[in-house]
Amino acid sequence: MQNRRRVSPEDLRSRWWLNNPDHPGTTALCIERFLNYGITLEELTSGRPIIGIAQSGSDLTPCNRHHLDLVKRVKDGIRARGGVPFEFPIHPIYENARRPTAALDRNLAYLGLVEILHGYPLDGVVLTTGCDKTTPACLMAAATVNISAIVLSGGPMLNGWRGAERVGSGTIIWELRKRLAAGDIDYPTFLSRAADSAPSIGHCNTMGTASTMNSLAEVLGMSLPGSAMIPAPYKERAMVAYQTGQRCVDMVWEDIRPLDILTRPAFENAIVMCSALGGSSNAPIHINAVARHAGVELDNDDWQSLGHDIPLLANVMPAGAYLGEEFHRAGGIPAVVHELLGAGKLHGDVPTVNGRSLAENTQGCQTRDDDVILRYDRPLVHQAGFINLRGNLFESALMKTSVISTDFRERFLSNPEDPDAFEGTVVVFDGSEDYHARIDDPALNITPSTILVMRGAGPVGHPGGAEVVNMQPPEALIRQGIEALPCLGDGRQSGTSGSPSILNASPEAAVGGGLGLLETGDRIRIDLRRGEAKALVADEEWARRQAAQAERGGYIYPAHQTPWQEIQRRLVEPLDKGMTLAPATRYRDVARR
Ligand code: FES
Ligand code: MG
Repeated sequence: MQNRRRVSPEDLRSRWWLNNPDHPGTTALCIERFLNYGITLEELTSGRPIIGIAQSGSDLTPCNRHHLDLVKRVKDGIRARGGVPFEFPIHPIYENARRPTAALDRNLAYLGLVEILHGYPLDGVVLTTGCDKTTPACLMAAATVNISAIVLSGGPMLNGWRGAERVGSGTIIWELRKRLAAGDIDYPTFLSRAADSAPSIGHCNTMGTASTMNSLAEVLGMSLPGSAMIPAPYKERAMVAYQTGQRCVDMVWEDIRPLDILTRPAFENAIVMCSALGGSSNAPIHINAVARHAGVELDNDDWQSLGHDIPLLANVMPAGAYLGEEFHRAGGIPAVVHELLGAGKLHGDVPTVNGRSLAENTQGCQTRDDDVILRYDRPLVHQAGFINLRGNLFESALMKTSVISTDFRERFLSNPEDPDAFEGTVVVFDGSEDYHARIDDPALNITPSTILVMRGAGPVGHPGGAEVVNMQPPEALIRQGIEALPCLGDGRQSGTSGSPSILNASPEAAVGGGLGLLETGDRIRIDLRRGEAKALVADEEWARRQAAQAERGGYIYPAHQTPWQEIQRRLVEPLDKGMTLAPATRYRDVARR
């Protein structure tokens, strides 16, 4: 990033609030209350950059809670470079506890953070991230406000172990649920074995949404190289917290801002990287959202065209065998970038927060363990990205083909004439409660060739979009050894789940999408090569159902429970558009005076 202008102390944005002789009254009223806890006039008025620290850790966000300690090192770093740190909370988001879903809070945290960054005397901001939605919320706000911003991941937990066996966050729970359903283990054993996956502070140690989004933040250029996947308790985590604080001050003087970094080539890199990591199926939603806030065109066709053919290089659960600690030791994100750059798959010249390019940052960063971070020409899976499907059921839905198991392939993709297509009879559920109430009902006649459909689970139907599309087969089938059926739905799926579901169908049933017209007993056809998913229902019958639904007033979904649910439902855009708020993407670079 050459020829940057050097910002002078007179140009600091914070000066308007803190040292503004044209508005003495406003200045005095603003600074006097900061003084009352011991900040000196000299610190506030001598032209030091004021650096916000967006604190995402709290007792309600346990995955990020250690940021409450790490922030001390961030502040040390800020002060060491002559800045003044101001820590403030952002809306808590804990993926696994928030009801009805943590996704409802991504846009709420985004809105709150935009207002804080816009409305207070801040020249730069350190964004503390970790649990799934905390990272996109911060990146989206950084793009909208466009003051100097740098991401500090909290890092994954240490590996979980049971004896000599690795136990990965989330992934173990999907497995244990099947064991519980099959009657192999009881409930206390289920809980105690699930707890094995969480041995320390930090976020999920698998390549779920948290590790994916923090890794992609690094590849986008928004965090220091090599920082995303340092396990939370490692000493390097606190060291990089210090360096992040230092760097944020430098970024203010160098006038490096998010919109300098969040460019189309950077997003293309994120898509490629997501495939190589076997990243979460939530990543397209969040990355498309950040791109929209940054004013960059990006859609699910880009995910397929740029990402589908990229091989899986990270041997990390749920797609692989290892966890965050091995991944970090093998070289972490810089080693994967190094492989992808060597294969010509990334834009190496994109700028990053440290003022150097992605290629400069990863020079000589070969994998240190090619069983964990594989060589490009010897990958774990050859095509690890998503396929974007469309048809009369939806305009866009994604399928992660890298997690299709041999068993699944044999049962559904074994027609030699047409190896990429399958057909099945559907059983339709309206939301997760309906699924739980009825899945074991023998009258549904679910067989090993049934396709399970979940609707009413999108951002409007289940405000925020539920992670419920990966549905477990009925207990009776599990006992027969059928552990997975194809699933399709307008909701999301946990990033720690390895199910080959068809997800994020947009538009969703609740806003008139075709899934709302499907009926149990219909046949559907999925063609992965053509990118099609179609209900095999005659046009006249489809039109009849459309008219009947219109007469009922559209697809019926549960009432709002809170004011924010109502507001978000009115404004939210479909999952393929990033689930952003319709008016919000019109605002960009709002900190400029
Ligand atoms: Fe918070 Fe996975 S639940 S990171
Ligand atoms: Mg999740």
